[in-house]
Amino acid sequence: MNIVVTGGKGFIGSSVCDRLLKAGFNVISIDNRKRENYYSMNSSIISKEVDVTNYTSLGEIISQADGIIHLAAVSRVIWGEIFPQECIDVNVKGTLNVVEAAKQSKRKPWIILGSSREVYGETDRNPVTEDYPLNPINTYGISKLAAECLVKQYALQNASKTMILRFSNVYGELSDILDRVTPKFILNALLNRPLSIHGGNQIMDFTHIVDTVDAIERAVHFMNSISEDKFFDHFHILPGESNSLYDLVEYIKLNISKNVRVELGKRREYDVDKFTGNPDKAKELLGFKCKIKYKEGVKKTINLFEKELQNNKPKAVQKFKEDSKCELL
Ligand SMILES: NC(=O)c1ccc[n+]([C@@H]2O[C@H](COP(=O)([O-])OP(=O)(O)OC[C@H]3O[C@@H](n4cnc5c(N)ncnc54)[C@H](O)[C@@H]3O)[C@@H](O)[C@H]2O)c1
Repeated sequence: MNIVVTGGKGFIGSSVCDRLLKAGFNVISIDNRKRENYYSMNSSIISKEVDVTNYTSLGEIISQADGIIHLAAVSRVIWGEIFPQECIDVNVKGTLNVVEAAKQSKRKPWIILGSSREVYGETDRNPVTEDYPLNPINTYGISKLAAECLVKQYALQNASKTMILRFSNVYGELSDILDRVTPKFILNALLNRPLSIHGGNQIMDFTHIVDTVDAIERAVHFMNSISEDKFFDHFHILPGESNSLYDLVEYIKLNISKNVRVELGKRREYDVDKFTGNPDKAKELLGFKCKIKYKEGVKKTINLFEKELQNNKPKAVQKFKEDSKCELL
């Protein structure tokens, strides 16, 4: 069985490709990134350098797919604010292309879309369930909501299998975008640099990459095992745990024998202040529950990054610099 993973060289996509390969699938990665993302890709994964906004090239690959995990995206809120046109182009047009190509395919592939908790915007109660009103407050959230609608529409019009997984602040590997808050704080602390908190007491529902990939693998097995063709709805993939950025700083302090300095920066109007998701629906349908608590995940990530800085510091620091590009603009 062929599974196409778009964004297969990304943080989540690369781990998903590895996991699915181990599970015995033929894995085809689509990504427009030229270089590998920190770790080199297993040579048994078929890697295609294709842009999801290019329908023709995408269509050729998707015609071979039995299932598609669509993760390619402008994947950060801040990038969506700085590059709004690219964000809409990749996240919306790219998704439309995936859906259209799937529609044209004789194999009628199922689609799992990697969406985001950003579709809710600011919520007035937490934890949020999947039926909470959708009011995104930034370009990225709007693009993800549009992508969700396209995928759902594909299922309804074509009687095809689709599912939407809403991820939340995934962290835990060097292949992450190291400018995201968890890796960035950890690396800054390890490199004796201050940790900059924008605004104050934001609450997030952080998810360890191993849990995210477990959930995606379960979703794949579910899609393959079920004969019914329909839209299987939206599911939170998160632990349902509230942690503030100050909690993150505390967890770092617990594990690093250095003086950790915090700087307070201005709140950014496009950031959601508080979000915690209810994870029960994914548990009911997929039997999925996150296993790694944030405090434990931060410790694991510190150990991983510490070891890497000891063994491979120039490579890790170079990636950190490249991933911080937005702050350098
Ligand atoms: N990491 C998180 O915390 C998080 C949270 C919520 C949702 N998500 C979603 O999960 C998915 C994966 O996120 P990630 O953290 O792995 O991000 P990532 O940026 O590491 O991976 C995205 C990949 O998509 C590729 N890509 C971008 N534009 C492309 C294009 N035009 N054509 C082909 N490939 C393209 C990039 O090169 C990259 O390898 C994204 O859809 C993201 O929106 C991630």
